[in-house]
Order: sequence, then structure tokens, then C-alpha cells
Amino acid sequence: MNKQPIGIFDSGVGGTSIWKEIHNVLPNENTIYLADSINAPYGPKGKDKILELSIKNTELLLEKNCKLIVVACNTATTNAISVLRERYNVPFIGIEPAIKPAVLNTKTNAIGILATKGTLSSALFHNTSSLYSNGINIVEQIGEGIVQLIENGELESEKMNTLLKSYLKPMLVANIDYLVLGCTHYPYLIPMLNKLLPKHVKIIDSGLAVAKQTKAVLKQFNLLNAELFTPKKKFFINLQNTEVMQSLLDDVFDVKYLKF
Ligand code: DGL
Repeated sequence: MNKQPIGIFDSGVGGTSIWKEIHNVLPNENTIYLADSINAPYGPKGKDKILELSIKNTELLLEKNCKLIVVACNTATTNAISVLRERYNVPFIGIEPAIKPAVLNTKTNAIGILATKGTLSSALFHNTSSLYSNGINIVEQIGEGIVQLIENGELESEKMNTLLKSYLKPMLVANIDYLVLGCTHYPYLIPMLNKLLPKHVKIIDSGLAVAKQTKAVLKQFNLLNAELFTPKKKFFINLQNTEVMQSLLDDVFDVKYLKF
């Protein structure tokens, strides 16, 4: 039995897509979520800045007594998780674009990856992508501007539609049959993406895999909370405007402003 919370952070509200998967797989766990929206987007920032912000978020979660930390951000994972693991004595779970299942299952030998500049330019992403790229055309696309629109609550806006169409175009020209979502904000775009993509193109995101991995690691370290009780779910954002995050959580959970 371990009632300490699981800590989760992202550059903003997008990591709530991962929180939802964790909540489904581990309903008995207490959780604390940090949205560093004041510093979003992380994607265009340099590696050192992304590391500095990831350290800040991690230390706050550790002050709040978290037993494990989920880096619910591809950009922070690919740029900072190895340093975080060296520095702090708790298990870390990260998220990376799920290239492997797309590459293993593609029939057209072409897959698309939509992610931030920080993720696509990271060494970790390059290593994974070159490991699997043999004979497969991997069409990489930076989703510039998408995170900001989601942070502003413009999920289904005309601007979003135009951006997505332009980002999908080269992928469709290359005849992809898998689209890998490499940013935790993007699962919120799945309804729109499904409208813009031909029926045979499958979308892959890593949320469920991250939740399952979180459960496996908690079990491995004997940190699971098996006790049945109503767990505490805390959500903090460092912008006064809590509405967007509140709406992504369907207004079920209370989002609080916290300066960090
Ligand atoms: N949710 C973050 C990710 O998964 C967005 C990064 C950003 O803020 O640019 O990469």
C-alpha cells in the first residue's frame, strides 16, 4: 500500500490526455498534475531550457511527496528524462512517439510523425527513428502553432483546420497509412484528424502504453495503492485562466491556479 501520489507534468494542458489514460488504468491512485502553461510551448525552446523547466516541475512534484513521476510531454522526455533519472531517486515514466508499431504494421512503407521541433530534433528521437527506418519512408512534420491553439482553447477552430491540412499534405502525398502523434496535446485533435485523413490511415498515440507502463513500474517497486478509497486528483496550472484545462477535463475535476 502506498498512498503517495503519482506526479504528472507537461508544458501545458495536453498531458491531461495521458492523465486520463492513467486514471482509467490506475483508478485507486492519488495524482497531482502540473500544467506549466506559462512556459508553453516547450517545442521551440533549446534543450537546456527544456531541461531547466523539467527540473523545476520535477522538484515541485517531489516537494509534494510524489512516489513516481510521469513526464507527460514528448518534448521534455526526449530532451530531459535521462538527466532527471540520474538526478532524482524516484522512477520516471516518459513518452516518446510510437514509431515502432507504425513501422512494423505499415503496408505502404510510409508513415507520418507529427511532433514538436524539440522532439524531432532530439538525439533520443533520432536514435529510435534510425533504428526502425530501414526501407520505410518516415515523413516528419513539426506541428508549429498547434500547441498554442490548444492552450488557447481553439481546438476546433478554422485556424487549426488550416494548419492540420497543410501539415498532413506531404504525408498524404507520400501515401502514409499510419500517423504517429508525437505530442501529448495532439490526442485532442483525433476527431478533426479523422475527418481530414482518408479512412485507411490509422492514428497511433502512446497514452495507453504509458499508463500500462506506469502500472508495471509501480508494481515492480511495490508502490501500488491497492486500497479502495476515493483518490485525490489535484490539477495545478500556472496561468490564471483555468477554463481551457477545466473543459478538457469535462469540468469533472477542479483545476487550481498555482504559481510555479
Ligand atoms: N505536450 C508537449 C509534448 O508532448 C507539448 C510540447 C510543447 O509545449 O511544445 O511534446
